[in-house]
Amino acid sequence: MRFYLTTAIDYVNSRPHLGTAYEKITADVIARYKRLAGVETRFVMGNDEHSQNVFRKARELGLDPNVYCDQMESVFREVWAKLSISFDDFIRTTEPRHKTAVQRMAQACHDAGDVYEGHYDGWYCVSCEAFKQEKDLVDGKCAIHLTTPEWIREKNYFFRLSKYQKPLLDHYAAHPEFVQPAIRRNEILRLVESGLEDISISRAGQSWGIPLPFDPSSVVYVWFDALINYAAAAGYGTDDRLFAEWWPADLHVIGKDITRFHCVVWPAMLMSAGLALPRQVFGHGWVHFKGQKMSKSLGTVIDPLDAADRLGADPLRLYLVKEIPYGGDGDFSWDRFQERYNVDLANNLGNLVSRVTAMAEKYRELSLPVPVVPAGRLRSVAIETLSAYRAAMEGFALHDGAAAVFALVDATNEFIAASEPWAIARDPARSDALSGVLYDAAEALRIAAVLLLPVMPTSAAEILRRCGESRATSDIRLSDAEWRNAVPRTLVKGQALWPRLEIEEASDASLESSVTDPTASASAPGGASADKPVAPVAPSAPSAPVAPSAPVAPSAPVAPSAPEMISIDQFMSVELRVAKVLAAERVPKSKKLVQLRIDAGSEERTIVAGIAEAYEPETLIGRLIVIVANLKPAKLMGIESNGMVLAATSAEGTPVLVEPGPGSAPGMRVR
Ligand code: MSP
Repeated sequence: MRFYLTTAIDYVNSRPHLGTAYEKITADVIARYKRLAGVETRFVMGNDEHSQNVFRKARELGLDPNVYCDQMESVFREVWAKLSISFDDFIRTTEPRHKTAVQRMAQACHDAGDVYEGHYDGWYCVSCEAFKQEKDLVDGKCAIHLTTPEWIREKNYFFRLSKYQKPLLDHYAAHPEFVQPAIRRNEILRLVESGLEDISISRAGQSWGIPLPFDPSSVVYVWFDALINYAAAAGYGTDDRLFAEWWPADLHVIGKDITRFHCVVWPAMLMSAGLALPRQVFGHGWVHFKGQKMSKSLGTVIDPLDAADRLGADPLRLYLVKEIPYGGDGDFSWDRFQERYNVDLANNLGNLVSRVTAMAEKYRELSLPVPVVPAGRLRSVAIETLSAYRAAMEGFALHDGAAAVFALVDATNEFIAASEPWAIARDPARSDALSGVLYDAAEALRIAAVLLLPVMPTSAAEILRRCGESRATSDIRLSDAEWRNAVPRTLVKGQALWPRLEIEEASDASLESSVTDPTASASAPGGASADKPVAPVAPSAPSAPVAPSAPVAPSAPVAPSAPEMISIDQFMSVELRVAKVLAAERVPKSKKLVQLRIDAGSEERTIVAGIAEAYEPETLIGRLIVIVANLKPAKLMGIESNGMVLAATSAEGTPVLVEPGPGSAPGMRVR
């Protein structure tokens, strides 16, 4: 059994940010899980270097672009190492093996009659590396990057994408699992069903790029170039044996913004070149920072090293994996990160490790004999956990996999509390019972640690060591997460793994400076400052549902008087619906108001919302929101608003849009 897994390759005009790191972390969890499951795994990542923005950035710095790309490779590798990303190969698009693969595939598509010469006239956004239609521009600017695109007229080679509409639709029908999750599959189906246009695959008069084999005066368009990295890294054009072994890829993990390239353009290119298609593409969601889009070009990025330095790489990995349902969007805030650290790690898992080893030391000098009493209820919980975990991980529901392990951790803490080993220890006649409780708790902890290896590799290895495991983690398999009580175990004591943060050290306000200039180098880890107010961290129940963007209030709010209760009928009289933002612009002369044109399912309408201070209008376009659909129209700054947008209010008073989950579509009723 083999598994070839890739992530998107990153543009190197800026450092990795928490959003790009999220992708690498989640792909790493999948790769580590596959290895744990005994599957021979090849995990490939890399850098996308032939972008015009990369070329310009190098020039700005007075560097040769190749030298600049070499430097950025080190920057990226350093970040990935700190985040424990275990890739097997790292490909750069300036490498000779990649150039060979690109030229070979371009030639294959040409030989198949799918490439023809033409002229392109149009707007080109360098940040998107894509041509833009007039209708996509807002005030003449790219709606995503807010920059004026360049007018380009040049000789281009085109790829006959239109020819592949039917073969692609047939492929999606024959392989319903090809595009994941379902929401992305539906988007892609709608897109392809509506017809495909041929795409330009070359740029004339540029030196930065790979020359076309059949016309070296043009270079290959950066997207056509970049996609081929997946085949190049598996030896296409350079190592036939490797390629036969590893192609097709089993999974491309990419962000939802680039599914069109991976689920439409890339498979069409492969069909044209006569190569097998990847088995699956998973389009994950976006990580926002306090409800705002995290984007290199908008300059609102979190440096993942700041987050890892703050509380640790493993806690960051756990936060991103457990708190964000994989496939949907999620949010990062410093307060929420700290809160989850305290709840999941300091109070829960860390506490369990300390309790189990401390009791083993106190009552059995750390040596736990093979129990003579049968294992109790905890054993069945561990067995159920393993099967829930396996099902979740196989279906890429990484958040459910992590949650399943923490349910076992909860159950083990509860088991200790209910068994009261300290009380049993007072009765020498119950020595076997005490040994049994200690052994069961240690065994459940050991199993939790095996299952946590993909998510928290360093900490899980340390917990295993403390549970008496002497093998290297690379030798540990999923079958080791089965309940075993036939061997004595000698535990190892150690320091607290995650000391609780009692003061509000990492509040969003204090770390606002960590929203960094994307091109600047990583800032030093922030420290607690002496003059910061000392406030206890608001505790929350381990099983409390995740409210993605709700930060911990800096001080406890005054308990409100009991609100008047409403009946279900009163509630149902409010018509809440999912809507999609089609257009967004600031209301002139207003700091707060944005005018939205929305698709409410059966109709379009205009709504004026007071969210301009928290959201750049352009970032709202395409986003799903929840509206009150049956609110009487009202005029705001002279504009008729037909409905209201739902938003939570953060402790700082910032509106945070309520975002419907995966599977939602305009018009759906929310109740
Ligand atoms: N170079 C292209 C990909 C070519 S793949 C053949 C590119 N690079 S990127 O640097 O802009 O993005 C790299 C990956 O990070 C993409 O999958 C993108 O979707 C993802 N993300 C960028 N910002 C993100 C978030 N804020 N949140 C989650 N993922 C994000 O696109």
